[in-house]
Order: sequence, then C-alpha cells, then structure tokens
Amino acid sequence: MVYVFVNQKGGVGKTTSAINLGAYLAGAGKSVLLVDFDSQANLSSGIGVKSAKPGVYELLSGAAPLDQVMRKTAIPALHVIPANIDLSGAAVELIDQKEREYFLKKALMPLRNRYDYIFIDCPPSLGILTLNGLIAADAALIPMQCEYFAMEGLSLLFKTIRRIQKHLNPSLVIGGIFFTMYDQRTRLAQEVVKQVSAYFRDAVFSTIIPRNVRLSEAPSHGIAISQYDPLCSGAKAYQSLAVELLKRGKPVSGGSPAHPANSGGEVNHGA
Ligand SMILES: Nc1ncnc2c1ncn2[C@@H]1O[C@H](COP(=O)(O)OP(=O)(O)OP(=O)(O)O)[C@@H](O)[C@H]1O
Ligand SMILES: [Mg+2]
Repeated sequence: MVYVFVNQKGGVGKTTSAINLGAYLAGAGKSVLLVDFDSQANLSSGIGVKSAKPGVYELLSGAAPLDQVMRKTAIPALHVIPANIDLSGAAVELIDQKEREYFLKKALMPLRNRYDYIFIDCPPSLGILTLNGLIAADAALIPMQCEYFAMEGLSLLFKTIRRIQKHLNPSLVIGGIFFTMYDQRTRLAQEVVKQVSAYFRDAVFSTIIPRNVRLSEAPSHGIAISQYDPLCSGAKAYQSLAVELLKRGKPVSGGSPAHPANSGGEVNHGA
C-alpha cells in the first residue's frame, strides 16, 4: 500500500505522523519505506539521515538510481528516500514536462512490491509535488489539527482529491483523517473533533494524537518516538494509530467516506 500524508495546511503533523506511524509499523514486522517529498526535508533529518544527497529529486530527474537514493534508518525494517533543497526546483522544472503529475508514481513503481507500506510525506501546498504524491498513492491519510481554520482547509483538500479521483488517479481512496496536537482542555478542540467525526464518520480514526512535547523533541535526535520515549503519551497514541491502520487493512475503492467524496458538500463550520 502506498499512503500519502497530505494537508495543504502547514505544521499539522504530516511529517511527524509519517515518521512515527512508519516506525511502529516497522516495529510490528512490516517493511516500510518513507519518501520525503518536501524540500524542507524535515522527514529526512527527523529520521536521522545525515546526507540527503542524492535524494528523491535526483531519483526523479534520473541523476541517481534507486539503490543510491535509498537509506537505512536506526530501525531495521524502516527505509527512507530523503529529500534535499534541490527538490524545490523540481516544482518549477516539472511545469514544462509531459506527464508531469506522474513522475513520482513511475519512480516508485519498482518499489511497490518490495515494501508492505510506502509513506509519502508531502509539503504544505496543493502544488505539483503534492499532486504527484496523490497520484502515486493508493490512499490519502489526512492529519488534522483541532482548530477552526483546519476545517476550512479540509473542504478544499477534499475538492482537490475528488478532482484527482475523477481525472488522474481513479483508484485513490481516503485512507482516513486523524486528529493531531489535541489539547483536551480547549473546548474548540473538542468541538472540532465532534463536528469532523460527525461529518466524516468512518473515515475518522478513533485514535487522537495529543499535543506532547516529546514528539517535537524526537526529530532533533534523528529518531522516532518509539525509540526516543516509548512510554510518553504521544508514543502510545502513534502506536495505537498504527494498530488501527493495520486493522483497517487495504482501503476499498469507493469505500470511505462516501459523502465527502461524492456529495460536493462543504464541511459544516457550525457554531
Ligand atoms: N502531537 C504533537 N505534539 C507536539 N508537537 C508536535 C506534535 N506533532 C507535531 N509536533 C511538532 O509540530 C511541528 C509541526 O509538525 P510537522 O512538521 O509534523 O507538521 P507538518 O504538517 O509536516 O508541517 P509542514 O506542513 O511544514 O510540512 C513540528 O515542530 C513537530 O515537531
Ligand atoms: Mg512536513
């Protein structure tokens, strides 16, 4: 399965989730490949990659073969294709290319059967890189912060996904939405969880990732939370999210969520 972590809103936990879910799945005996598809390269440094060149840009441009861009991590079954700042140029270079939306899909094709899970970490935009991510993927995983503007962003994201399902990647499904950086003391956070869950129903994971400072410390040590502090609340939450993802198995095309994908409806911003 190829999952893309997507949300055009910045700082919602895409990278943190890709790293830590990947680490727990690898710990559960699955083979996992993380693909850093953001020129900020947070995923690469967060999982301890020292030299990110050659990386995914060199792979796409044909400057480096697959075996040179793959890296091992501190977790044996967890591999990574890193990104470096050169990837920011790809967005511009791709504009003039034929089939520019399919570069990542083609590059990952030989790897699909080598891994149980491939996770693509996207930048905070709906530009050509994210488009490539959504086309290369079987399913989209959407981390969401529990705040008002996050709900506004969600309807734009679903519109984009619907367009992609219609024209560019009909087999793309919503793998699920999950809440991040949850602070149970705020009423707004509770309200957002309630509303989004009521609207997107089965698409919403029941695990909620709490705000937990240990999750923000782990990347500076270049390791996942499962190794940095496996007993903290953030670690337990990501472990539980990984179990949920495993249990969900392969999302079925046209499965969840029926209504946002088909109705054209907006997220209700409510009271
Ligand atoms: N549950 C959490 N509790 C506390 N801090 C968190 C949590 N999740 C992520 N963070 C921190 O919040 C910041 C943003 O997280 P992250 O980089 O994962 O988001 P992102 O969506 O990938 O951002 P971008 O859109 O810039 O790529 C980071 O500093 C990260 O360490
Ligand atoms: Mg990120």
